[in-house]
Amino acid sequence: MNIRKLISEMTLEEKASMCSGSDGWHTQGIDRLNIPAMRLSDGPHGLRKQKEGTDNLGIQESIPAVCFPAGCALAASFDRGILKKTGQALGEECQAENVGILLGPGVNIKRSPLCGRNFEYYSEDPFVSSELAAAYIEGVQEKNIGACIKHFFANNQETRRFSASSELDERTAREIYLAAFENAVKKAKPKAVMCAYNRINGIYAAENKKYLNDVLRDEWGFDGLVVSDWGAVNDRVPDLKAGTDLEMPPVSTRNDERIVEAVKTGKLDEQILDRAVERILNCVYEYEEKRDRQTVYNHEKDHETAKKAAAESMVLLKNNGVLPLNNRDKVAVIGEFALNPRFQGGGSSHINAFRVESFMECVCRDADVNDGVTYVQGFHTAGSENDLRVIKHVAEAARNADKVLVFAGLPESYESEGYDRENMRLPEEQNRLIREIAAVNENIIVVLHNGAPVEMPWIDSVSAVLETYLSGEAVGAAVKDVLYGKTNPCGRLPETFPVRLEDTPVYPDLTGEGDRVCYREGVFVGYRYYDTRKMKVLFPFGHGLSYTDYTYSNLRLSSEQFREGDKLIVSVDVTNVGDLSGKEVIQLYIKSPRSQAVRRPVHELKGFTKIFLRPGETKTAEFELDSRSFSWFCTERHEWFLESGEYEAEIAKSSQNVILRRTIRVLGRSYIPQRVDIHTPLGDILRIPGSVELLKKYGISVAQEECTVENENEEQILQAHYEYMPLRARVSEMNDRQIHELNQALCSLL
Ligand code: GLC
Repeated sequence: MNIRKLISEMTLEEKASMCSGSDGWHTQGIDRLNIPAMRLSDGPHGLRKQKEGTDNLGIQESIPAVCFPAGCALAASFDRGILKKTGQALGEECQAENVGILLGPGVNIKRSPLCGRNFEYYSEDPFVSSELAAAYIEGVQEKNIGACIKHFFANNQETRRFSASSELDERTAREIYLAAFENAVKKAKPKAVMCAYNRINGIYAAENKKYLNDVLRDEWGFDGLVVSDWGAVNDRVPDLKAGTDLEMPPVSTRNDERIVEAVKTGKLDEQILDRAVERILNCVYEYEEKRDRQTVYNHEKDHETAKKAAAESMVLLKNNGVLPLNNRDKVAVIGEFALNPRFQGGGSSHINAFRVESFMECVCRDADVNDGVTYVQGFHTAGSENDLRVIKHVAEAARNADKVLVFAGLPESYESEGYDRENMRLPEEQNRLIREIAAVNENIIVVLHNGAPVEMPWIDSVSAVLETYLSGEAVGAAVKDVLYGKTNPCGRLPETFPVRLEDTPVYPDLTGEGDRVCYREGVFVGYRYYDTRKMKVLFPFGHGLSYTDYTYSNLRLSSEQFREGDKLIVSVDVTNVGDLSGKEVIQLYIKSPRSQAVRRPVHELKGFTKIFLRPGETKTAEFELDSRSFSWFCTERHEWFLESGEYEAEIAKSSQNVILRRTIRVLGRSYIPQRVDIHTPLGDILRIPGSVELLKKYGISVAQEECTVENENEEQILQAHYEYMPLRARVSEMNDRQIHELNQALCSLL
């Protein structure tokens, strides 16, 4: 379709009408020109297509669809292949259901473990988030369906989400919150980006020209459409100018009329309108012209895909050898989640699941194990006081079993889109019951169903903990496969589990004051905070156990040195030294030296890969580093800064378990201030190439004052005085004209 020709045939009113939906889920069709409407639907971990109703909170009914593991679980796979397969399956479902854009992935950074929507997002780390998002987007778009990465950006809490302003400096934005989008947008080229509800430094995301047009489009080269979150448009004409092409849902024709008025009165350049219409029509016709009307929605096939993804995402947090179970074990199963599992989160991502498989249902179907398994509800996950009768019954069952499985986790009401948690606690009746069981049986395995970190006051009393997160409709089958060893657990935590809420970097300012949410922790989010402060955590980022074990050896670099523009390959051999096949996630962190200009996290994840190994097998894991892998964002210069120094490549099993290290000498730049004049400390000036010669030309001595010192302390005082004293202390004989000339000469050195 010749989109531009089509636009030239449209009236102003028709073009304006294109910039908002025709209803809660469709773009505007125009019969006169045979322009079809295109459907958008959630996302991200299942197809939420509503036959009637247009709510965006997941309250009204949607069609039955396969519920895949939520983002929190998929991310724990650390497996780009799993994210891609999930995207491919969802893309096919969209083709079968005539949905042109799938509203996902959600990649907002997990700044606080209390964010009610963390279950839907991937990680506290932008590299993990963007890499996995890119894989998901590639999968969806391989099926000629547009993916819509969201919510752009700094949408990290649900509290007051429609009005709160995320207050953050440019470096924090670039290194953390934009970085979660940047790599995915550049690498996978999503057809759409959804702008968030919140404000960023006081300006609504929908109206934020700096980030929508200047960064997303001009700098990153994004050429797709920007759709508002549902109800995120605050002032239609400024939003359109700033880069929000499509308003969803349509709030009234009033906004279309405003666009028409603005063009007619010269307040809006019609080319801006045409550009927005072109982006929308590009999506519509790319979908229409590549539609595969033969695609059939194969629920059972996708259910199996969801099950495999779930099993390879689960994280074995603790295991003293009690797992894997064997068929002969007498097992007491406690907790309602074993019968009615929690497998997804609340809100717009809520799926009308096709077929939920509970653990007990799968056990009952399996003649090899079901004789030895008994079930006791123990507690209502809706939360209720334990009564003594129940506790007695549970204790009895636990006493008579070899091993006890406690299915615990967060009830649906504890976390959801729309509101945040108040704390990280499980319901008290669950904690109490685990303690009661521990008193009668030491072989307790806790199976957790939660979308975000929880406190585990009983951790020292249990033998194993399996974190399933929210693993989708096939959770029960996946849990059974992992517990009985059919799947060797291979998930890793994509976020830190802190010991307590007070340890988190955002505490106590969890959700801001009123509408101001100050990101005072800067880039020190998640492990960047805990590891820099050498803090003990419950379970670190990247942690996860296996039923086998792996050793790392022979860490090698393609070069010991690195210059701007180089590519550096890091390789390491990994061996499966156990007697079970499994998949291992190898993590590469870069440890940076102390910077002359900014505070940097002690290390940052810059590579991860997952490889399958048979017992005794060795394979090589390879990672490619580039300049960005070592750089920090210089707000003064508004650019990425590759600072010289000795860095370290760290190969690790978690952010707090580094196994191998190698030094890399980066020959980059020394940091020098962006502005310099006679008030600049001499130490800074002397770091500028050519400064000594320049000062000599002006007859300014740079020698340190001669002075006899009695001890090291006096020497340090003198040295600091020399470094920090501004240049003006050495130019007192100069007149104003000479000083002005010197200032200009100094600036010319930058
Ligand atoms: C919701 C969500 C967004 C979703 C949209 C449509 O409010 O914030 O993620 O895609 O509305 O349901």
